[in-house]
Amino acid sequence: MSVHKEIKRVTTHVLAEMKLKGEKIAMLTSYDYSMARLVDQAGIDIILVGDSASNVMAGNETTLPITLDQMIYHGKSVVRAVTRALVVVDMPFGTYQGNSLEALNSAIKIMKVTHADAVKVEGGKEIIESVERILSAGIPVMGHLGLMPQSINKYGTYVVRAREEVEAQKLIEDAKLLEEAGCFAIVLEKIPAELGAKVAKSLKIPVIGIGAGGGVDGQVLVIHDMLGITQTFSPRFLRRYLNLAEEITGAVNHYVQDVKSLDFPNEREQY
Ligand code: KIV
Repeated sequence: MSVHKEIKRVTTHVLAEMKLKGEKIAMLTSYDYSMARLVDQAGIDIILVGDSASNVMAGNETTLPITLDQMIYHGKSVVRAVTRALVVVDMPFGTYQGNSLEALNSAIKIMKVTHADAVKVEGGKEIIESVERILSAGIPVMGHLGLMPQSINKYGTYVVRAREEVEAQKLIEDAKLLEEAGCFAIVLEKIPAELGAKVAKSLKIPVIGIGAGGGVDGQVLVIHDMLGITQTFSPRFLRRYLNLAEEITGAVNHYVQDVKSLDFPNEREQY
């Protein structure tokens, strides 16, 4: 019997057990109550309240503008819906870099107000003091290395990261640092599959990939991308399970026609 089927509530210990038993971890983002409820009921292991909310919910070009209060609003909505999955809330840009006390206060606010299970931060050595301080308060931390969307202005492009040896070596060292500090898992975004597998093999904690190949311990996608709500974003790593954009526009178009033609509401649809 798989760990996934046996347990009623996913914890960081359950995730560690999944890695030990070689059972892959399934993670998706959600930002609101209704979607999170469906995603949880479908058996997802981790729900990430990603700062990708800045893109897919608010229409910003990057993840940078989203605020702590906005992430808390999304986090609260998701936690209200979830009974089984582990809920992780992204710490937004500017709330944890450079000042570990501010990082701790931001993380405490997220945990106190949303009742989420953990927070996620982007970066390695540069933010390790913040990671350690958040962990010292008993707050589980998920790391995020490789393509780090909060640093997009430093790189200027969303191309595959760590293709070069120097960057790959830094990523390996950062992953080790995060594990040693006490992170319970790490996300690796858009890196060569070989490097993803190497990091997953060298760490005891689960490594979840998005565009990091099949050799890691689990996969994560942005829900709007895998359901085909977003249409222009088509990286190689994305598998679309639905074309919801077409379904939704088709349904709305049908409704408009029904209203205009007096077909809706009919006799049975009124009092
Ligand atoms: O914000 C987000 O959705 C993420 C995932 C891409 C891992 O960080």
